Amino acid sequence: MKNLTSDQLRSLYLKFFEERGHKVIPSASLIPENDPSVLFTTAGMHPLVPYLMGQEHPAGKRLTDVQKCLRTGDIDEVGDASHCTFFEMLGNWSLGDYFKHESIAWSYELLTSEEWLGIDKDRLYFTCFEGDENAPRDTESHDRWVEMGVDPSHIFYLGAKHNWWIPGNSGPCGPDTEIFFDTGKPKCCPECNPSCDCGKYLEIWNNVFMQYYKDAEGNVTPLAKRNVDTGMGLDRTIATLQGAESVYDTDGFAPIIARIAELSGKNYNDDEATKKAFRIIADHIRSATFILGDPRGVTPSNVDQGYILRRLIRRAIRFAMQIGIPENSLSKVAEAVIERYCHVYPELKENQEKITTELAKEEARFQHTLKKGMKEFERMKGSFADGKIDGVTAFHLYDTFGFPIEFTEEMARENGLTVDRAGFEAAFSEHQNKSKQGAEQRFKGGLAEANEVTARLHTATHLLQAALRKVLGDGVAQKGSNITTERLRFDFSFERKMTPEEVKEVEKLVNEAIQADVPITCEEMTVDEARTQGAIGLFGDKYGEKVKVYTMGKYSKEICGGPHASHTGELGTFKIKKEEASSAGVRRIKAVLQ
Ligand code: ALA
Repeated sequence: MKNLTSDQLRSLYLKFFEERGHKVIPSASLIPENDPSVLFTTAGMHPLVPYLMGQEHPAGKRLTDVQKCLRTGDIDEVGDASHCTFFEMLGNWSLGDYFKHESIAWSYELLTSEEWLGIDKDRLYFTCFEGDENAPRDTESHDRWVEMGVDPSHIFYLGAKHNWWIPGNSGPCGPDTEIFFDTGKPKCCPECNPSCDCGKYLEIWNNVFMQYYKDAEGNVTPLAKRNVDTGMGLDRTIATLQGAESVYDTDGFAPIIARIAELSGKNYNDDEATKKAFRIIADHIRSATFILGDPRGVTPSNVDQGYILRRLIRRAIRFAMQIGIPENSLSKVAEAVIERYCHVYPELKENQEKITTELAKEEARFQHTLKKGMKEFERMKGSFADGKIDGVTAFHLYDTFGFPIEFTEEMARENGLTVDRAGFEAAFSEHQNKSKQGAEQRFKGGLAEANEVTARLHTATHLLQAALRKVLGDGVAQKGSNITTERLRFDFSFERKMTPEEVKEVEKLVNEAIQADVPITCEEMTVDEARTQGAIGLFGDKYGEKVKVYTMGKYSKEICGGPHASHTGELGTFKIKKEEASSAGVRRIKAVLQ
């Protein structure tokens, strides 16, 4: 087994697939663009949904990347050996090109060949889909692993709960085959197998064979093309290769853990509670740093991504207090994260000041809330029946004022009170179930419907930009765009407030383009050709030589990845709801389609 660093594994993975005809594409933003169905990019496939659904990708049919991902569904597991909220997912895709045969052979080669990772095949275990009403038993994957030299006793058939992958409730999906590393821990029971969460088997890679589509009603139909979507967890694979006890004991986390030790004066290995606190702080501040440092980064708030960010920072603060890290130190942990990752993600360095300032501000706010919570506690403490703080109140202190239950228990003890711990746990798990259901999945209608609505708003955004340039001049350039299922938001360079007449005129031009009901066409060409044809848009070419240019009759020509409506007439009526300042020299329009 090769003892690689995280940097080496990143490059090696991309090189392996590049040599097999894949184009390396950059990581998309952690905060999805034009996709309101999720708050964060939760898997490498997420930014690729339109292409898995059949659109052509400008970089071709074979892609590979390292994608920044964030999942908060498992937040309470963070601190164990393998769960993180932020993680890097190594992935390779076939968009209607190769399928199970090659995908499995390549995964096996990369993992076991001495030339690549050199993992002992006897320590690898595999799961395949056992079949149900949607798709048959995946004997093809099973047999292919055996052909590669895997002992059948290392392959397990499991049901849809384990071996069917779908991004949330609806979207492109299919059976998967998962690859596990045997950590060498004893079996927890005679039946212990990779579906067990005892920690013996660590999932490192998942190959999804996306050949179906599930709609919001639950109907599963075959997709036009068969795709492969794989995801390998970088930290987990590194932990495997480095023989580490957990993902936190790898080179990726080492400088972050060292910074926490410096600040707290404690050792990571002092005891289990301290170790867990170190891990939670390291994970949460790494996530917060990547969210704040993303080009589409957000700041802490009470809604959407900002809320998740706030939760992560506040949870980190609570554990920081527990191990004696002084107030206002978390930005120093973030600095260690930035140093560790900025050579791969330069946006972290570019946004360093924003990251550290926002963390310090949130820390100050939270300390203030905690102090308010203590006042609330003082006010309430005489009123508990039988001197017992009930579960709902303990949960209220936790949820509203951020009091860890241990903190409430300590204050209770000091005041001669007790806490209904079981009642607290019940209130906590009820809340957890609710938030799990909605952690990242937001749009109830499902991905496909959300995609249709947002594609129309995206088309309207192009028409809006063209109309603004007509009315206000060619100095208008896009500074930002954000689309939800309800509205579009468009930021553009312009020095002053628009007059009511200008707003009317822009609306009129967009509605004329809609009424003309022109078809929307898409062509691939080089950036130079696009420029020559007068296309506007970002000329920084993201995907190699070819870019997509969307044309809407005589109204608009723009470089863009799509997706869009097929005719402008599908848009209905365009209405500007607000025109306001966004920042110096930048105006913001919010508009809807009615
Ligand atoms: N999309 C698959 C996953 O996230 C590869 O596990």
